[in-house]
Parts: sequence; structure tokens; C-alpha cells
Amino acid sequence: MPAAVDFDPTKHLAFKDAPEVLTMGDIGFAENIGVSPIAVTQPFQLFSPEAIEIMRSEIAKPVVTKNHTFSSNIAASQLRGYARDYAPFTYAAWNHAQTIAIISKLAGIDLIPWGDYEIAHINLSVKTEEQAKAELNAIRQDKRVHSDKGMTMGSSEDDKPIVGWHQDSYPFVCVLMMSDCTGMIGGETALRTANGEVIRVRGPTEGYAIILQGRYIAHQALRALGKTERITAVTSFRPRTPFVKDDSELRTVRPVSDLNELYYDFSEYRLEMMEQRIRRERDVMRARRQKGQKFDTRCHKLFLEESSAFMQHTEKELVPEDHVRKGTIETVDIPDVVVGK
Ligand SMILES: [Fe+2]
Repeated sequence: MPAAVDFDPTKHLAFKDAPEVLTMGDIGFAENIGVSPIAVTQPFQLFSPEAIEIMRSEIAKPVVTKNHTFSSNIAASQLRGYARDYAPFTYAAWNHAQTIAIISKLAGIDLIPWGDYEIAHINLSVKTEEQAKAELNAIRQDKRVHSDKGMTMGSSEDDKPIVGWHQDSYPFVCVLMMSDCTGMIGGETALRTANGEVIRVRGPTEGYAIILQGRYIAHQALRALGKTERITAVTSFRPRTPFVKDDSELRTVRPVSDLNELYYDFSEYRLEMMEQRIRRERDVMRARRQKGQKFDTRCHKLFLEESSAFMQHTEKELVPEDHVRKGTIETVDIPDVVVGK
């Protein structure tokens, strides 16, 4: 076993140039629909090749495969919730102030990782050489048929998504590519604009990432073809301040989680948010009284209403353990549209 390497931002962060971004306005939404005006970034380099190699060695540990593998009706193989205990480098990388600063700057709002359980969620897709070759051959043949008909768009097979149209559970995600993508076809993210058009954002290559405000934008990951292996690490983020909304829900993650860990993460930060909101409200109230101002009934009632809705939301997300069906994610119906306009 090689000696563990500590995460060193001067060596392991490889961020240079800020990528282009699309704003919520660019895709037709009001800027205040989510928690930031930024919708999505183009791929940007985040970590160095050495960092990716160490992260890959951490997910290859037998204990991670054995205790942290999940699968569901929509994803065959995922690794979840391993980072804090078994991947110290990965855990330090995503929690490092400089990493968080880069992501926050690009996201247009100060963010922090959503919780330990959602650090570097891994999507694994491993195919045999034969499968990958067959895919490439199919694409070549298909292209020929298409060019005969004078069409320029990819085939409908190329466009088949891994997961259908959906919105994420958490405000922001950072999707990091951990595989060599040379020769890979597809793998873009399709986004639906406010007027129903579909636009595509290039998929990241090895060491590169994209940031997406996935809670508020319907999107799908298009299939990647022609490679034997595709590994992505998805880390979810939420605003650092407790004073902006938190619409996080657990619907899509409950069936593929150790509920004990997930519920502790969620409930603790929701209580912290409430704690800080209550403290601020109390301070404002005290200050008014000291200044001899009148009690602000309307304003305080509004605070109580909002707080009660916030608590109810937390309570609803905590579905009793015996009511959660492992591996079955209920999909919310976002109607299909024609991809590739
Ligand atoms: Fe998503």
C-alpha cells in the first residue's frame, strides 16, 4: 500500500481559466428562480492528473466497493458515502477552502458541500472492449445512413439519455470526469430552456468538471459511447448562508443511501439554518424594542410562517426507514421533448 498523500492545493488543483457560463437569463429563466443567476458552466480543469489518480485509487479500495455500492432502477452502479471514512484525499480535496472558492466563484454564490454523504458520489459505467467497439461500429454505420439522407444530426441512439429528464435534489452539482475520454462519443448534458428548447453542454474530460444548478433546471445526461470505462464523481453543494432558500429534497437519493448518514447530514444542517435564522430574528426584535419601536406583528408572523414551512419540509423529507424501498427511485414526470433541435 503506497503512503497516503495529503491534498495539496498547489499541486492538486489545476484550475486556470474561468470557463464560459450560461446564466439563467441566457436560457430564458428569471434570475431569481434558483439561488444564483448562473445556470451551468462549460467544462473547466479542476484537479491535476495526479489528484485524479489518487481519487481513483481511493474508490478502488475493497471496503468501498463492498460497503458503499448502490444500484437502482435508474443507475446500475454507484458508490456513495465512502469519502469521509475511506477516501481522505478525496474528502480533503472537495472540502478544501480553495476548491470551494473556485466552485463558488463559478457558481455565482458562496457554496459549501451539501453534506459528507454527498461528497464525490461515483457513477460507474464499465463495458467490455467488445461492447465499446460494437457501439462505435453502430455509430459509424448510422452516420452513413444519415448522411445518405442528407441529415446532419446524430442518430436517435446517440441521443438516448442515461437518466431521463429530471431535476436534482440539491441546488448545485459539480460533475468531475475521472476517466480518459479520448475517442468517447456523446456524454453531453442536455438542458431544457424555459421555452422548451434543448441545448447541450459539452461533457467534461479527465480532470475537468462542470457546475450545474441542477435543482432548478430540467436536464439529462446523454449516453457516452465507444469507451470501456466512464467514471464521474458528483459532489453536491448548497449555499453557505442560511438566509437563502434551501429546497433540497431527498427523493432521488433515499433509495440509494445509508439513511442513517443521510438523515443526520440533512437534519443537522437544516437545524443549523433554523438556529441562525431564529437568532437573527430575535436580535432584530430586541433591537427594535430597545429603540422603542413598535412590535412588527406582520413581519414576525411572516417569519413564523416561513419557519414553520421550513420545518415541515424537513419533516416530510425524513421518510421512515421501513417505508423506503431500496433501489427504487420514483421519477417525477417531466414530459419528454425532442432532443437535438
Ligand atoms: Fe442530474
